[in-house]
Amino acid sequence: MITPETKERILEACRIEEVVGDFVSLKKRGANLLGVCPFHNERTPSFTVSPAKGFFKCFGCGKAGDSVTFMMEHEHLSFPEALRYLAGKYNITIEEEAPSAEMMEAQSQRESLFAVMDFAKNYYVDYLWNNDEGIAIGLSYFRERGFTDEIIRKFELGFSPDKWDGLTSSATSAGYKEEILEKAGLLIVNEQKKYDRFRGRVMFPVASLTGRTIAFGARILKTDPKSPKYLNSPETEIYFKSKSLYGISHAKKSIVEKDVCYLVEGYTDVISLHQAGIENVVASSGTSLTAEQIRLIGRYTKNITVLYDGDAAGIKASLRGINLILEEGMNVRVVLFPDGEDPDSYSRKVSTVELLDYLTVSAVDFISFKTKLLLSETAGDPIKKAGLVRDIVETIAVVPDAITRAAYLRQASTLMEMSEAVLIAEMNKIIRARNNRQSEEQQAPMPDHAGEMLDNIEKEYEEEQLINDEHSTEVHEEEIIRILLNYAEEIFELPDWNKYLEEEQDKNKPKKKITDKKEEEEKPELVYIKVKDFIFDILKTDGINFSNEGYAGLLAEFANLVENETEYNSQTFINNLSPELKPLAISLVTPKYELADWKSKGIFVRLDKDRIDKTVVDAMAYIQKKMANKKAMEFQNEIKERAEVGADIDELLMHYQELIKLKIALNRITNTVINK
Ligand code: UTP
Ligand code: MN
Repeated sequence: MITPETKERILEACRIEEVVGDFVSLKKRGANLLGVCPFHNERTPSFTVSPAKGFFKCFGCGKAGDSVTFMMEHEHLSFPEALRYLAGKYNITIEEEAPSAEMMEAQSQRESLFAVMDFAKNYYVDYLWNNDEGIAIGLSYFRERGFTDEIIRKFELGFSPDKWDGLTSSATSAGYKEEILEKAGLLIVNEQKKYDRFRGRVMFPVASLTGRTIAFGARILKTDPKSPKYLNSPETEIYFKSKSLYGISHAKKSIVEKDVCYLVEGYTDVISLHQAGIENVVASSGTSLTAEQIRLIGRYTKNITVLYDGDAAGIKASLRGINLILEEGMNVRVVLFPDGEDPDSYSRKVSTVELLDYLTVSAVDFISFKTKLLLSETAGDPIKKAGLVRDIVETIAVVPDAITRAAYLRQASTLMEMSEAVLIAEMNKIIRARNNRQSEEQQAPMPDHAGEMLDNIEKEYEEEQLINDEHSTEVHEEEIIRILLNYAEEIFELPDWNKYLEEEQDKNKPKKKITDKKEEEEKPELVYIKVKDFIFDILKTDGINFSNEGYAGLLAEFANLVENETEYNSQTFINNLSPELKPLAISLVTPKYELADWKSKGIFVRLDKDRIDKTVVDAMAYIQKKMANKKAMEFQNEIKERAEVGADIDELLMHYQELIKLKIALNRITNTVINK
């Protein structure tokens, strides 16, 4: 048992930003630090660390706590394990009360597993360096492979003796029970006999994030067609294949520094690259790449470069990996090695400088990689080319972020010499099919902050009522013209309108939903649209006219352009404007354009090009709201008048209610925080 005094000292020494910072890359945000939450899958950072309070809190998933709870949750440690880790980090000597016997008893199963894995690792290392068999077979093998003694020590490589009970007899005499050796996957027990799992093999210990041994990979040295080349530990209570990455404990610091992670296939690739001085490298040994492994890398960087063998199997593996990485919202590049070479063999053939050079020069983004690869197969065959287009667009469609997708589409269009419109159409088809599938499979849960959001909406709604009609629509007109001038040709993803309207749907009528769906299929909704088309669609449908002469004039010019299907080019457009309109347009395309007074009117303008979807949708929602307010006012007056003379107001009331629903939906849109 750790004494209370020691506990106190550990807690005092902990600096939350350092403890968390070992696992999550944090950026300063005022007094706090911000990062991507390691406890749930998110893309926009909402994980906050407060050095002053010694706390972390995620505003996305709600997880919160101090340094100790962080270690417990993140590394799946028990309370004493977390304290021990932190004591180690801050060089605090642990004083214990009544250790030994009682301690041993109280040790959790997991702690015993870690302990026995650590024992085994030391046993194999010792055997490699100090036993004649180990030196003659194991150590000489590693040296022949070109591993330096330093790197063999660093990766704690070892050798398992060619005996049935080498480890077991040594471990049991050190006090470990056979039961725990079996649970750790080191001892195989069946009806006939008990024997060591790893025999006569060189040993690669697999470490957890914090560097504790959780498994082994073991390579055979003899040529024996009956035995597999590599034997790996089975899954245990401390080893989850799909969640572990070989080399991560050595790589994490370098990954953060270099802001890229190299992903290779195996143990030897990781070690050889380290030896060549490249430390930001991990392998998914033993399994094919999983989403969890990618998320683990994602804690440290958003950039992954896969380094694979140039043979058919390597290419296939890299293609599968690419989609998985893109799905997790990360950037991926590919390096293929010449046929027959893997990172391990290649790094031994060339100098470090040449290797780094190769990694830089031959890394291509996935679109170029896939396009070139597949184009060579489809040469001159239009049907095959159509298949290729679909294949590439399908890959682009897995990218979660709409802006990134649009950029990839543009690039693919150039590379494949296909019009962007064709690719957009193809992408819309894929996304629509996927959305239909998803909405059938699952109903999105209400986000945690929904209640708060609704409160805001109501508040804003009341405020809106107060300032209603006190302002004209001029500010909104200006914003729309500004957007057109700057982004008319940009393509963006339309939001899911149902999200804003769902409260208004009658939930007791499931039949209606089915017919809705049918209509949707017949008249497919656009998912992607150009900014100018979106704006003019709404202006036309809602019959909105601009009141300000200047903005109305510019709008008319844009209307011409849209009607003639001319591509917008800001220079040509502005040059051809009348002398009255030109200065106005120029003032609106100037980036320094000040919008300070808009804020006082409750309008928040987003200039960030990356948020073009929110910017455009908001601008249109604001002007639609203004128009709806005006109409609502007219309705109110008319209803009052008719009621006074005792006329029928039922129909008017119905229209009025529709309008209110629309206004609420529009309020939802302008109040929605983007969380992509
Ligand atoms: P290799 O077959 O190249 O292994 O696989 P190697 O040890 O480098 O053998 P030689 O010397 O080239 O013949 C490369 C990586 O793939 C994984 C290992 O991690 C290895 O480092 N691998 C390979 C397995 O996990 N299991 C296997 O059966 C084979
Ligand atoms: Mn190899």
